[in-house]
Amino acid sequence: MNATDRKTRKLHVVTHGCQMNVYDSARMTDLLRPLGYATVDAPENADMVIINTCHIRERAEEKVFSQLGRLRQMKEAQGGNMMIAVTGCVAQAEGEVLAKRAPFVDLVVGPQAYHRLPELIAQAHRKQGVVIDTEFPAEQKFDHLPDDAAPQGVVSYLSIQEGCDKFCSFCVVPYTRGAEASRPAESVLAEARRMVALGAREIALLGQNVNAYHGEGPDGSAWNLTRLLDRLAGIEGLERIRYTTSHPNDMSDELIDAHRDNPKLLPFLHLPVQSGSDKILRAMNRKHKADDFRRIVDRLRAVRPDIALSSDFIAGHPGETDADFADTMKLVRETGFALAYSFKYSPRPGTPAAGLPQLEEAVKDARLQELQALLREQQNAFNAGTVGLETPVLFTGAGRHPGQIAGRSLWLQPVVVEHETDLTGQIRMVKITGANPNSLLGTLLDKEKIAA
Ligand code: SAH
Ligand code: SF4
Ligand code: F3S
Repeated sequence: MNATDRKTRKLHVVTHGCQMNVYDSARMTDLLRPLGYATVDAPENADMVIINTCHIRERAEEKVFSQLGRLRQMKEAQGGNMMIAVTGCVAQAEGEVLAKRAPFVDLVVGPQAYHRLPELIAQAHRKQGVVIDTEFPAEQKFDHLPDDAAPQGVVSYLSIQEGCDKFCSFCVVPYTRGAEASRPAESVLAEARRMVALGAREIALLGQNVNAYHGEGPDGSAWNLTRLLDRLAGIEGLERIRYTTSHPNDMSDELIDAHRDNPKLLPFLHLPVQSGSDKILRAMNRKHKADDFRRIVDRLRAVRPDIALSSDFIAGHPGETDADFADTMKLVRETGFALAYSFKYSPRPGTPAAGLPQLEEAVKDARLQELQALLREQQNAFNAGTVGLETPVLFTGAGRHPGQIAGRSLWLQPVVVEHETDLTGQIRMVKITGANPNSLLGTLLDKEKIAA
């Protein structure tokens, strides 16, 4: 390496999409640090810009192309001295198209090839035109990423599973992330221990179908999520564990029971159901009925009465009638969600539902609004229901205003407390005194620090 190779290079990373992309962006940054890349907050004057993209809905994809347009101008203003890499699910789904539509991009790298980034960057320096790597290599990227991750903080995210074999009619994930693959249990446990040593108190396990986890255990047998959670709970200093996103069909009885038996598992579960209509669930290829979801919810509430539920919904899937949508509203009303994400169906190229006759935009819009109004009402009611509780809060850092500290409840609600001393990383009892739509207010109780 000569002296110019060793100079610090400015790296700007933009992340779209889900938590798995957030995790991947952090790992790419870790991978490039030894090559002299240090992150900067803005793309101006950066030597390298990575856009880590999402393909889940049309709007997510449009964002990428408008961002690329701006970067192109910046790159030209810098005399071409800016390497632009597009990573993530748009890179995977549209590699060749992207290279044609945006030839000023230097690198297109799919989610399974990140560990090859240093080599790909070197290639891009040598070569004219766009370097594309959207292979699904036999080796797992996780096994080839460095161990010296930068600290994420009190709440840390850990990818344990990637890809999806479920092929819901509307969804691009099986095409962009490939087949389901789980990391070996030891590698997950080692990373969790490192995270805790760096200050993590809560770890969120990530996967597109995290409860389908079946990683190789130290004994060579496949471990399921329950077993992995059990081992994670043994890590001293780790106080809270959760996992996301789950599929109803992989919600085993054993995993449900873990919500009673595993003392570190938070009473919160994100379990997407998408629709309350059996006809639409069938059209979506979800392979479960609305009542299966209801039964899971009943069992979860039986073993863990204080569990809060979150879900995802799609309004306006092809074939959805007023009656089908009414079934979704009914399921929401009956279940009661603490939090939920709802989307207007967006046809995605290459997915089965995109080829079906589509509903009118106005119908989809109206249904989405009706659904969101109900979900918002439920979220407000849930937050209001916590007012008056004395409950443990994990403090994560300073609040937005001076004299405030911020933390999270057992149900992932942000909690703001007036307090002068920094309590980052501590779990303290707080009395909840007020609720806003997206956060709670509380006062610190003069009690001993207690564990989750
Ligand atoms: N693996 C998870 C979620 C993946 S994507 C699961 O199985 O639930 C996150 C959410 O985006 C989905 O739950 C779904 O509600 C929504 N989504 C996915 N594809 C969509 C599409 N084509 N249009 C609208 N919403 C979509
Ligand atoms: Fe997409 Fe369905 Fe897989 Fe979830 S389970 S990632 S919605 S295909
Ligand atoms: Fe988007 Fe890919 Fe995640 S499509 S939601 S970034 S898996």
